[in-house]
Formats: sequence, structure tokens, C-alpha cells
Amino acid sequence: MFESENIYTMLKTAEIFLESKGLFDAKPDAEVLLSSVLKIKRSKLPILRSKKPTDIQRSRYEHYILRRSKREPIAYIIGFASFMYFEFKVNKDVFIPRPETEILVESVLEFSKGKNKCSLLDLCAGSGCIAVCLEKLGRFRNIVVSDISPNAIIIAKENAQINSALNIDFIESDIFSNISDKVFDVIVANPPYVSYEEYKFLEPELKYEPQNALVARDNGLFFYKKIVAGADKYLKKDGVVFVELNANKAESIKLIFLSNGYKDVEIIKDYAGLSRILIARKRH
Ligand SMILES: C[S@@+](CC[C@H](N)C(=O)[O-])C[C@H]1O[C@@H](n2cnc3c(N)ncnc32)[C@H](O)[C@@H]1O
Repeated sequence: MFESENIYTMLKTAEIFLESKGLFDAKPDAEVLLSSVLKIKRSKLPILRSKKPTDIQRSRYEHYILRRSKREPIAYIIGFASFMYFEFKVNKDVFIPRPETEILVESVLEFSKGKNKCSLLDLCAGSGCIAVCLEKLGRFRNIVVSDISPNAIIIAKENAQINSALNIDFIESDIFSNISDKVFDVIVANPPYVSYEEYKFLEPELKYEPQNALVARDNGLFFYKKIVAGADKYLKKDGVVFVELNANKAESIKLIFLSNGYKDVEIIKDYAGLSRILIARKRH
């Protein structure tokens, strides 16, 4: 596809090819992938436009562009995703961190501001992005990261190392099954919340992500019910639960918390105006 071309012509060829495959963001995608292959900042591409990449770089770029043309997410192709101020290693064993989850992190940071070292349990941790950011940006102690997937735990541990977030314990656990008898000030979770019906209509990119990171039984409500059923035992007095919401089911999820004795149930909207985060205080 890219025989003896320079950066400018390679980008144009890739953009036209990706557009022909129906990708809306063909230009930025082509640029991000080339800057990853060349190991340079994307902003440097225009300055280097007449430079000719090596044969190895050209064939790697072709491979990346072919993968993207099949709708594989960029984060899996380049092997990392940006979240808050940090970079996270990702592969097909973990869900790619999303911008809306940054609101979950910010909400927990806001809650913990001025408090003396909160303890934290991150359920359904995936890449570990939530707990790693909280360890770096907040004043937490006793941070526990858990996930049912052993491969996700491996990646979460790597991400903690990469970002020097060293005060975190990792536990493979089906929600609370292995959490033992610890109690926490904060339980945070971005659980799988897509119903089987919703899953059928998701973008092709999402089909590359682990299905068990996305889909939940009981019309997407399974994990909210499981968290509510168990959280009481793992929360300190005045402990708080923060969950990311399936925006289509926000009212049903709120009802699950309220009908289980949680009070001060608050919903925070995302930048698109969708109900995205739920904060619930423990019953007394
Ligand atoms: C939507 S992803 C969230 C990942 C990460 N917290 C984030 O926000 O990017 C949901 C995660 O839940 C995990 N998971 C699925 N079923 C689980 C279970 N029964 N117990 C614990 N974790 C589970 C998946 O492995 C996946 O990592």
C-alpha cells in the first residue's frame, strides 16, 4: 500500500483507504497510527511531511491501517489509552478506559478532598485506570483493586507499575467474593452494564472488547444489584458507593439503591447531559 512514499503521501493514502471503508475519523486515525509507528508526537507530522519512513515502518503502518479498516479500536492497535493525565496499557483482555469514566474519578476525588486518607475498593477494575488515577491524584490508603478476570488483574498491576502507583493491592474476585473482611470508605465501580439487547446494536469497535466487560444479565442491571446486595458489609459507617451508570437505566438503578436503604442518592450528568454517575451513602 505504501511503496517508497513520504509521510505526507502515506497519510493521504491511508486516509482515503480508511474513508473508503466507512470510517468517519479517517484523518485523525491515520495520523495517530503513523505517529505511533514513527514514535513521534502527532503534532510533528506536518514538519516531517517529506521524510521517508523505513521499509519496516511502512509495513507496520500498513498492518495498523488494515487492522483499523476492520474497525479494531486504535487503543488496541497501539497498545495504550490515555485517561485523565496518564497512559494505560491495554490489550484485548481489558476494556478501554472511556472519557466519561473520568467523571467517576473526579467525583471520588471531590468526595475525598479534605478527608484524612480514605480507603478504597475498586470493583470491576479492568485496566486499573480508576484506582491508579485515584492513587496518583488523591490521598487514599488501603486501595484494593479487584476484577474477576485474571488477565485484567495482570494488566492492572502493570499499569500501576508503569504509573508508579505502588500503594495498591490486587485481588481476583467475583465482585465481593474474595474481598475478605475489609471495610472501606469508598467503593467505586464501573461495572458491565450493557443489556444483551443493547449489545446487538453497538458499534463494531466495541465487539473487540471483552464481552464480559460490557454485558450484564437482567437487562443490564445484574451488577448494580450485586453491588447493592453486598456493599453494606464492606462499607464503613458513612461509607459511599460510586458507580458509573448505564444512562438509559439511571432511574431503575437509583431505585435499586433507594429500595435497599441507601440515602442521599445523587446522580451526576456527563458532558452530553446523560445521567452518568450515581453516588449513594450507606444506610444507618
Ligand atoms: C466496563 S469494564 C470497567 C473497567 C475499568 N474499571 C474502566 O472503567 O475502564 C468492567 C469490568 O468488570 C469486570 N467483571 C465482569 N464480571 C465481573 C465480576 N463478576 N466480578 C468482578 N469483575 C467483573 C470485567 O472483567 C471488566 O474488567
